Amino acid sequence: LLGFAPQSGEYLRQDALNDFTRRTGIAVDLIPTWGTSAEQVALILRTLKHHAPAPDVYLIDMIWIGTLARHLMDLTPYLDENAGDHFPEMLGTEPGGRRLIGLPFYMNVAALYYRKDLLQKYGFRHPPTTWKELETAAAWIQARERASGNTGFWGYVWQGAPYEGLTCNALEWQMSFGGGSVIDPDGTISVNNPRAAQAFRRAAGWVGSISPPSVLTYTEADSLNAFRSGKAAFMRHWSSVYSADRTTGLTGLPAGTHKAVETVGGFLLAVSRYSAHPAESARLVLYLTGREVQFRRALRRGYLPTLDPLYSNTDLERTLPQLRLLKSLPPGSCVQRPSMIASEKYAGVSKAYYTVVHSILSHEAEPADALSRLERQLVDLTGFPTVAQAEHR
Ligand code: GLC
Repeated sequence: LLGFAPQSGEYLRQDALNDFTRRTGIAVDLIPTWGTSAEQVALILRTLKHHAPAPDVYLIDMIWIGTLARHLMDLTPYLDENAGDHFPEMLGTEPGGRRLIGLPFYMNVAALYYRKDLLQKYGFRHPPTTWKELETAAAWIQARERASGNTGFWGYVWQGAPYEGLTCNALEWQMSFGGGSVIDPDGTISVNNPRAAQAFRRAAGWVGSISPPSVLTYTEADSLNAFRSGKAAFMRHWSSVYSADRTTGLTGLPAGTHKAVETVGGFLLAVSRYSAHPAESARLVLYLTGREVQFRRALRRGYLPTLDPLYSNTDLERTLPQLRLLKSLPPGSCVQRPSMIASEKYAGVSKAYYTVVHSILSHEAEPADALSRLERQLVDLTGFPTVAQAEHR
């Protein structure tokens, strides 16, 4: 099984793998991975292209299903009664096909983390519900914290390095202002418009004012370090890093002029087509993605399940604020990146997008110019029509 950083691999052994081996007699070797999601998929793709008989099972970010599809085994013949309980949008269905090539292991949803103690100290009765409120609260708290000697304190931290994480942040800004969703589910390129420009201009204004200039190099780990070391009032992060303490609160992301938007992420388990042990591998995937393990991993580690019935489990509901948060979000606020429609082109699409957004955030490019350039790039890459072209058809 390839995936998991060393520490999470150890947890997986304790939570599930030891049990699996005891029950089935099937031993599982864990091969740890490092790096960003895109670096990992590049490595996985290299291995699969060589038709390597091992690793058998892969942990993959949900956005790479289309990229890896042709190398993954159809799990349909192995399915058990749990399969119908997964959220359909999390299932690893082959884009444009019928094969089920990945089963969801856990889901991630973006959230706003905030310092309850600081909100109280400065008289804010509730966390911000709009970007405007967030800007005001962040600036207010930042100024006063610094004045009382908390040097290096910032209002808001997020993921601004040019990588997949920025794609998620940028999509949230863009859609919350009604600026389109990069590529709509029907295959229309929707990125070059004044609302998207407005959204990115606004985020660019945060850099160096309520967010540190170095936010443009931040990944998930950097933002978490800043927040956990007490150097930030607000943080955008994923539900999976929530751990209960007295001072940290969790809520949905702020709304723009259109609505509030949270990107959905998460991971699936898939079996290589070239695996020397297809039946054993499928058995492992079914066990790990099944009810018992998902329940345990939610309770112990805070991972959001992908099985609908677990959302009415009272133990989980009581213990997990992230689960309550997900249940409370208004319909339509959780969104997916355009990875299904872009399929194996998704890596290129995301890279073009985050590169252009990064150039706007660092004031190297003017939003309107940058977005029309991005639109041309996306047309070349995918062959999809722009909104304007689609209207003329
Ligand atoms: C989280 C999400 C994943 C996303 C990544 C971006 O790990 O679960 O879907 O691609 O963050 O950095």
